[in-house]
Amino acid sequence: MQTNDSSLPPRGDRTPAWSELAALQHTRGAGFELQAAFAADPQRAARYTVEAPGLRADLSKQHWDEAIHAQLLALAEQVQLPARRAAQFAGQIANPTEGRPALHMALRAPRGAGGPFEAEVHGVLDRLLAYAEGVRAEADAGVGPGGRPPIRHIVNLGIGGSDLGPQMVVPALRAHSHPGLSLHFAGNVDGHDLLPLLARLKPEETLFIIASKTFTTQETMANARLARAWFLAEGGHDIARHFVATTTNVKAAAEFGITTTFGFWDWVGGRYSLWSAIGLPIALALGEAGFRALLAGAHAMDRHAVEAPLAGNLPTLLGLLDVWLRNFQGCPSRNLAPYHQGLARLPAWLQQLEMESNGKGVDLAGEPLPFATSPVVWGEAGTNGQHAFFQMLHQGTDTVPVEFILVREPATGVERLKPATAAALAPLLAEQQRMLLANGLAQAQALMLGKTAEQALGETVPTAAPDQAPELIARHRRFPGNRPSTLLMLARLDPWHLGALLAMYEHRVFTSATVWGINPFDQWGVELGKSLCNALLPRLGSGDTTGLDGSTAAALDWLRG
Ligand code: F6P
Repeated sequence: MQTNDSSLPPRGDRTPAWSELAALQHTRGAGFELQAAFAADPQRAARYTVEAPGLRADLSKQHWDEAIHAQLLALAEQVQLPARRAAQFAGQIANPTEGRPALHMALRAPRGAGGPFEAEVHGVLDRLLAYAEGVRAEADAGVGPGGRPPIRHIVNLGIGGSDLGPQMVVPALRAHSHPGLSLHFAGNVDGHDLLPLLARLKPEETLFIIASKTFTTQETMANARLARAWFLAEGGHDIARHFVATTTNVKAAAEFGITTTFGFWDWVGGRYSLWSAIGLPIALALGEAGFRALLAGAHAMDRHAVEAPLAGNLPTLLGLLDVWLRNFQGCPSRNLAPYHQGLARLPAWLQQLEMESNGKGVDLAGEPLPFATSPVVWGEAGTNGQHAFFQMLHQGTDTVPVEFILVREPATGVERLKPATAAALAPLLAEQQRMLLANGLAQAQALMLGKTAEQALGETVPTAAPDQAPELIARHRRFPGNRPSTLLMLARLDPWHLGALLAMYEHRVFTSATVWGINPFDQWGVELGKSLCNALLPRLGSGDTTGLDGSTAAALDWLRG
């Protein structure tokens, strides 16, 4: 086994800063009192607020102080984060197990910036955007070529990174989307995903995008075949017009019968690919200007990530905080609470980004890690989550740090209503926006402030059982408080701001991966299940259970009916 490879920077746990942080957790982190920290330092909120392109982050409600903050920055220096990030941007091999760079930043670098692969990137981008504009123009005109119906429905068939990005961005930016185009997403191999959608569509108005980096993924290929069979059975013709592919495997797409293909490259990881041709659904929804604004926001964050000094570098600070929470404070999960309904799929996108990237158990040298890596990332749009799992966040036995996302200006699309209706709804919607923000702020406050049993005892509680002692009820109504949270704030959710937010998450994942000394750009952990599935598939037909373990054999037998 290869260990301590001298060409690699030191792994986080082998640095002096790591030992210092372990000591600081003992002396300061473990008994950290948020309210006392605010009382002792009136500047605390300002001290721990960081501005980055399009984003303002208040990190003051975390269990850290200047000593911890300083050692986390030292940790970043000692694992050579700035040099590692610069190497990634320069196109060096960031994904050594697959021998590839990880250059999704090149997809959003403007023309003329002189970045790697500029000609290829902008060649595909221009073609993709021209195509998207063509489809949008048909919808505007209400007629397609030769008097045929225009495309009205776009169905993206992809899974994982070929689905989650566009599926999250399109609803997030609905207020900026073409009103005459409906975007749909189906990823699951389960026919219950695509079939109900097909039942509502007409072949002549439908465009299928077969989105797959490899063009071999079982689920996507199965859905592509289902869509093609439906299209032909329903009297559709002109597959060339109604099916396009976004893939690195142009040859396989051609074999499927697809002639319009938008390519990308093996240096774009699946979960980092929404900026590439995989973003076609986004380009169709937003148009050229919107898609370019999304890229520009991400590019602004790229520059921040690589240029801002560590102390004011948001993806660096958030990644370091993730390490602090995971490895020193012992938090196994992190909750994401976006207070914007459009961001309802952000937790799902982030789950793949973070857990497929950093859910690793060995370091770059293949050595088993003696510390924890990716937390479980989970969440739900606020305020819905408050009525589901916030009970556990407030009074459960685990400390789960919560990341709130608050958006100052609403974009509900009220301007698309009839003027009289818009005027009637506007004040109500403005009040709902205030309710939304008040709820988000209040939850962060409640997590920090908590409530003592004494405070609870002083309250009138009409719903408390009258035969129970008030002291007992008060113990149930106590909140421990002192629970950490982060506030991420955006002025508005438009393409530029969303691009910046998403790119921030990408660079943040790289930060913690660099501290942990792992490769965030491979995903070997998805392989085993895929190959065992391929072996089981014929057995579900034949019923042959020879050589299977008892549990799988019995279940297979029962499931065959
Ligand atoms: O889940 C594994 C994975 O390889 C992801 O990394 C990827 O985003 C997804 O499958 C889809 O792959 P493809 O785009 O090749 O169909």
